[in-house]
Amino acid sequence: MIILKIGGSIITNKDSIEPEVDYDNLNRISGEIAEAYNNESLDIADGLIIVHGAGSFGHPPAKKYKIGEPFTNEEYPLKRKGFSEIVLSMKKLNLCVCESLLKQGIPVVPIQTSAVVKAYDKRINDFDLKMIKTYLKEGYVPVLYGDVVIDDKLKMSILSGDQIIEYVASFLASDRVVLGTDVDGVYDKNPKIHEDAKLIEKVSSLDDITQLESTVNVDVTGGMIGKVKELLTLADNGVDSEIINANKPGIISKCLQGEKVKGTKITKKQ
Ligand code: IPE
Repeated sequence: MIILKIGGSIITNKDSIEPEVDYDNLNRISGEIAEAYNNESLDIADGLIIVHGAGSFGHPPAKKYKIGEPFTNEEYPLKRKGFSEIVLSMKKLNLCVCESLLKQGIPVVPIQTSAVVKAYDKRINDFDLKMIKTYLKEGYVPVLYGDVVIDDKLKMSILSGDQIIEYVASFLASDRVVLGTDVDGVYDKNPKIHEDAKLIEKVSSLDDITQLESTVNVDVTGGMIGKVKELLTLADNGVDSEIINANKPGIISKCLQGEKVKGTKITKKQ
């Protein structure tokens, strides 16, 4: 079974204030996933889960409503409104993603994350995987996404797609995890600012990325460092993963079909 995460910065214009789908990227990526999905000799034919990020559909409102920060009882009604706004916005993005995948013939089933997950202090502490397992068994492709969720400590918090894949891949014993981002992988410095940034091909501990700066754009869930932390936990649980560039045509399709591509592998320390 393979779990594929597509970053919000790929399928949306992440820096836009208004929610905006990047249809060129989304439709190209759906085509690439379909190409691999239809190759019956692969792991992917045994099951695929897609998780997508939020981009401009989630990060700006999460920042605006300061989701995840403590608040008073008087502020709760406004916070609830913010929560609903984000739930609806994410459903809209998820619908666009699912429609694009279905057009390519992939039998998707959207799973509303905020309806099946509860957190405690920003970490998943309750995740009902029953229906996901059932859909997989019946040959569907469940599509989850980063979302706002009920939090037993903070009332509400943001749950990143990266934490979802860490949890789901561990519990469903996924064979492979692939993260499509807008860079070639993990660099020693932010490659969007530093021309001399070097790609790190293998990460086995946080010591490997001590110099890494956080990403520049609006990101409430920790940027590249947050991603690597989730993936190191996943590696400790026995599932290796790779970060690749989903902005470059062909990479997702090749990677899903087991071909070697440029990127960073996150593996357990030997
Ligand atoms: C964030 O999910 C969810 C919300 C802000 C509601 P992600 O952290 O997975 O999203 P991207 O990939 O960074 O956009």
